[in-house]
Amino acid sequence: MEEARHWDRSYSAKGEGGVSWFEESPAASIKLIERFGAGPGTSLIDIGGGASRLVDELIERGWHDLAVLDLSRAAIDLARQRLGPASERVDWILTDVMKWQPARRYDIWHDRAAFHFLTEAADRTAYAQRLDEALSPGGHAIIATFAPDGPERCSGLPVMRYSPEALAEIIGAPFVLVDSLRHVHITPAGVRQPFQFSVLRRAAT
Ligand SMILES: C[S@@+](CC[C@H](N)C(=O)[O-])C[C@H]1O[C@@H](n2cnc3c(N)ncnc32)[C@H](O)[C@@H]1O
Repeated sequence: MEEARHWDRSYSAKGEGGVSWFEESPAASIKLIERFGAGPGTSLIDIGGGASRLVDELIERGWHDLAVLDLSRAAIDLARQRLGPASERVDWILTDVMKWQPARRYDIWHDRAAFHFLTEAADRTAYAQRLDEALSPGGHAIIATFAPDGPERCSGLPVMRYSPEALAEIIGAPFVLVDSLRHVHITPAGVRQPFQFSVLRRAAT
């Protein structure tokens, strides 16, 4: 699949710390996860999680029901090597999120910088359907994209930029925007990238 090759090439050529989206600590994600009362017993899937250190930080905090979904084998290999034996505590799902058939539901759906690559309406609809199938009643989706004043491209690909309100409208019912924050990511090359992080809640029933 051409898309997977693009991401594999990027991770293989630059390594975990060389890609523009690398962050030493996923502080904004952790802040929002903790703001909603989540704890070690909460289940979480990181969509397009790549080689992110989010799962490392959650494992350190005692979380034990974690999954990472990504279409890049190179990204998942980097994360597994970094984690070593602790990687056995994560369910690694190698697939395209739009083709995924979720086998269960999660309390938290986390996505930093994957959704914003979906520039076609049909792909965004497929993504929202997977979210609908995989998020528990009362669960939260934390979706981070470039903000309206963020870059127009990422990893050489065009992206969509969103305000929290515009993102919530695109994702649609039954998800309601309950919180958001702005975060300026500094790439390893020192470039500023404004992000918005939105929290969407699914009704409990
Ligand atoms: C900009 S990176 C962000 C990675 C990670 N979320 C982070 O914050 O470090 C985008 C990630 O989304 C993955 N990705 C892109 N399109 C995808 C798709 N359709 N299904 C699953 N993963 C995808 C890429 O392989 C890559 O790891």
